[in-house]
Amino acid sequence: MAYHSDTQAVHGGREDFRELGVHAPPLDFSTTYPVPSLESGRDSIDALAQGKANADSPIYARLHNPTVDRYEKAFAAMEKAEASIAFASGMASIHGVLQALRIRDMQDGVKRNRIIAVRPLYGCTDHLLACGLLGFDVTWVNQDRIADEIDETVALIVVETPANPTLSLVDIESVVTQSGGVPVMVDNTFATPLLQQPLELGATFSVHSGTKYLGGHGDVLAGIVATNEEWAARIRQVRILTGGNLHPMAAYLLHRSLPTLALRVERAQENARTLVDRLAAHPQVAALYYPGFADSDPTDIVGRQMKGTGSVITLEMHGGFAAATSMMQNVKLFTPAVSLGSTDSLIEHPAGLTHRIVAEEGREEGGITEGMIRIAVGIEYIDDLWVDLEQALESLPVLTRRTA
Ligand SMILES: Cc1ncc(COP(=O)(O)O)c(C=O)c1O
Repeated sequence: MAYHSDTQAVHGGREDFRELGVHAPPLDFSTTYPVPSLESGRDSIDALAQGKANADSPIYARLHNPTVDRYEKAFAAMEKAEASIAFASGMASIHGVLQALRIRDMQDGVKRNRIIAVRPLYGCTDHLLACGLLGFDVTWVNQDRIADEIDETVALIVVETPANPTLSLVDIESVVTQSGGVPVMVDNTFATPLLQQPLELGATFSVHSGTKYLGGHGDVLAGIVATNEEWAARIRQVRILTGGNLHPMAAYLLHRSLPTLALRVERAQENARTLVDRLAAHPQVAALYYPGFADSDPTDIVGRQMKGTGSVITLEMHGGFAAATSMMQNVKLFTPAVSLGSTDSLIEHPAGLTHRIVAEEGREEGGITEGMIRIAVGIEYIDDLWVDLEQALESLPVLTRRTA
């Protein structure tokens, strides 16, 4: 019987506990493992080097780790994926996908050098694609014009939905329909697998910064890719060769956070909904970006593709950059800091921080302005959050209210 995802989150990767006689996941810090015999060691190395998920012996921690493997299995079930591959950070997981494209090219004896991407993306993802470090040329397009750009040189289509920091939504099914069979990578960090499952909609990769909701407590740097077994084998090969492995302690913490993911996501989302209503009525706020607005979601992506609205809100201040700076300085309960998805609420300035690495024209194309601030809502008591935001808004000079 298939369990509901909330139950799956509590029990995933723990199926053998009775057999093992334990109630918490064993934490394996070994960097090397005894090989039963040279022959079996060789077989295990061959299997892992080909990208298999398991072998008789883990051999060495860069090739396999049982604690990480346990978390990967639990997470893959939540994404309804055949497999998932964990990395030391979200950026390492995106790098893993990009390098796996090279492995496919070597297998196929062709070179596909172009990536089609929809802005905005998280700042470092945008920069990684735009700077050409990995030898790909990127074509930035509107989500409705992807089909126009497809040819045999395209290796990957990259989208983020909801996108960082404007919360704009991308229709995954439409992207897949336009792709002509080119793999589609969806950054699912803002939604989590509880609100959105990109592989069910035809995407090939769902990537996450596990540093956010999946870790959930602001103390783990992590990334993960959910995909099919064919791509998973290539991505594991990249991980073995480039070593961006997730540490087993981080995997243990991520696995421990999975059972409370639904509670945290739901509470933060409920808080965000209330804050949006109150912010919308405040005269210092010029515009709000939030997936729950009908005009930002004309094709009903919320409901059809995404089960909720998430817990990030971006606002445009009437007073522009000066007001955004003051807001960040004036909050007392919110922490002025990048990142999101933690139990506590954070506030940051995308143009100056998370997206500073993106060239000015890229920020402009992605709709990222100097007067924008991004709020990552946590699970605190709602009225305490509002009181803090309200006093920060009220402490802005009255003058700025007239400068819209
Ligand atoms: C949407 C998104 N994707 C990827 C990343 C990169 O993840 P990490 O910081 O874990 O490398 C981030 C980080 O903020 C992000 O917001």
